[in-house]
Order: sequence, then C-alpha cells, then structure tokens
Amino acid sequence: MASPQSVYLNGEFVPHGEAKVSVEDRGFNFADGIYEVVRIVGGRGFRIEAHLDRFESGARALEIELAMSRDAVREAILETARANRVEEGTVYVQLTRGVAPRSHAFPDGVRPTLVMLARHFLGPAPSDQENGVSAITAPDLRWGYCEVKTIGLLPNVIAQQHAKSEGCYEALLVRDGVVTEATHSSAFCVRKGVVHTHPIDNILPGITRRFLIDALRGDGVEVVEVPTTVEDFRSAEEVFITGTTTEVMAVICIDNVTVGLGMPGELTRLAMELYRRDLEAARAGGAG
Ligand code: PDD
Repeated sequence: MASPQSVYLNGEFVPHGEAKVSVEDRGFNFADGIYEVVRIVGGRGFRIEAHLDRFESGARALEIELAMSRDAVREAILETARANRVEEGTVYVQLTRGVAPRSHAFPDGVRPTLVMLARHFLGPAPSDQENGVSAITAPDLRWGYCEVKTIGLLPNVIAQQHAKSEGCYEALLVRDGVVTEATHSSAFCVRKGVVHTHPIDNILPGITRRFLIDALRGDGVEVVEVPTTVEDFRSAEEVFITGTTTEVMAVICIDNVTVGLGMPGELTRLAMELYRRDLEAARAGGAG
C-alpha cells in the first residue's frame, strides 16, 4: 500500500490524517489567506518563480508576514512534491494569517499557517483538449481585489457548481456585461483574428495567461488586453481558457450556443502547441 500522504504544515511533514489546524485559524474563520497551485513536471516546479512572485505580492497586499525566505518557500514546495513522490502533479500552497481568538482586525504577534499538499496530476482529460469543452456564463460576484489569490473562493465555487450541474467545464464570469475571466482559469476570445483578453484590472494575473500573451505575440499574433463583452465572446471565432490545471482549453459552446465552428480553432491550437512546447522543455529540464 502507498505510504500515507505527507503534508507540509508549518515547517514539518506530517501524515495527512495528522495534519491538523486550529478551529480558530483565520483561514477557517475569515478566509484570511492566500493560495497558489504550482504544477510539477519532471519533478520540477513549472514557472515556480512566477508563482513565488504572486505569492509574495499577495502576502504583502494582505500584510501577512511569513518569516521564511523565498528560497525556503521554493524548497518546501519542491520537498512536498518529493516527499510524496510526485514527479508529475501539483502542489497546493496555502498561507493564512494564523491562529488567534476570533476578532476582525489583524491580531498582534500571530504566526502565519503555511500548508502544502502534493497531488499526482497529468493534465486535463485528453478528450477535452482534443474536442474542447462547454461553458456557462455567470455573474462575477467577487470582491474588488481579485489580483490577490485569496482563499475566499465562494463566488467561484458557486459559479463552478452551476457549470457542473449544467454539464459544463467552466463558468465565464461576467461583470458589467464584460467577461472578466472564469472561476479557475483566464478567458480569451478571437475576433477578426485578434486575441482578446481582459486587462489586469480586478482579475487574477494568471501565470498561464501572461505566458500565452507573450508567446502568441512572439509568434506574430495580435493580442489585446481590453474589456470584451459577453456578446463578443458568444459571437467570437474562437474562445479558449487557460490556467495551471486547465492548460489551454478550447471553449466550443457558451450557454448552449456553439462558438465558431464548434471545435478548437486555429489560434487556440497554436496556443495549445506553444503551451505544450514550454511544458515539454520544462519537463526536460529547460527554463520553463
Ligand atoms: N486557478 N483565474 C482564476 C480565478 C484562477 O483561480 C486561476 C487559477 C486562473 C489561472 O491562473 P494561473 O494560470 O496562474 O493558474 C485564472 C487555480 C489553478 C485553482 O484555483 O485551482
């Protein structure tokens, strides 16, 4: 039998069943914390520096002081993967403000809680990648600070549940008639051969999103970061979503209406190919 999963908890590795956090952890009481999902390929952290950048800037934004160097966080992420023999997978990293008697304002002298969990993961289902997936649209009910990857995900959870109950992969989030992103991925559409995506203005700065904007531009494709309406998404030639666990996925149907030709389009397939090349390079030990 496989050995019990090892969870990183505040500097120690403990068996999954023994990894316990207080009922007065502020993550539990207030969703007072942030997270990252880091992909592991060939035992290496894929785009790990970008994840560490976003993690550090989220902690700064919430004024959570982690008494640990960036190098130590990186090493803990990789050690969590190694301790669980995860060569291909993800490490979920969660940082909360820590444990204190429940009171809204930040407590003094509290030690943050840092948890990391490794999972085996080989990428999205090949059939979804080949054929594309369906999405619904849902109102973007989140707060005004979506640049921070907060663990307060209830609006995302509810929208994703609606998508699931409709048999869809994702929910595109709509704010003031504009598609901001999706519950756990960034959203793009192609109109007149130009790739459109929402600017970094109250959305998550997706690491996959950034890579693809640069990679597509490098390949001569025009990419614009402009607010794009839900009608423009529905009538686009192509729609695709991107993320650490989603990679690049064609959206071929929105709210039961077929997008474009109802299959992954030319620029979506180019984006998939650019992503795949970068992943393979990282797996083989390249920059990634
Ligand atoms: N989600 N937008 C949102 C709201 C997200 O939660 C995510 C990632 C993305 C894509 O970001 P990136 O390319 O950096 O993974 C966009 C993670 C994977 C999750 O919640 O599981």
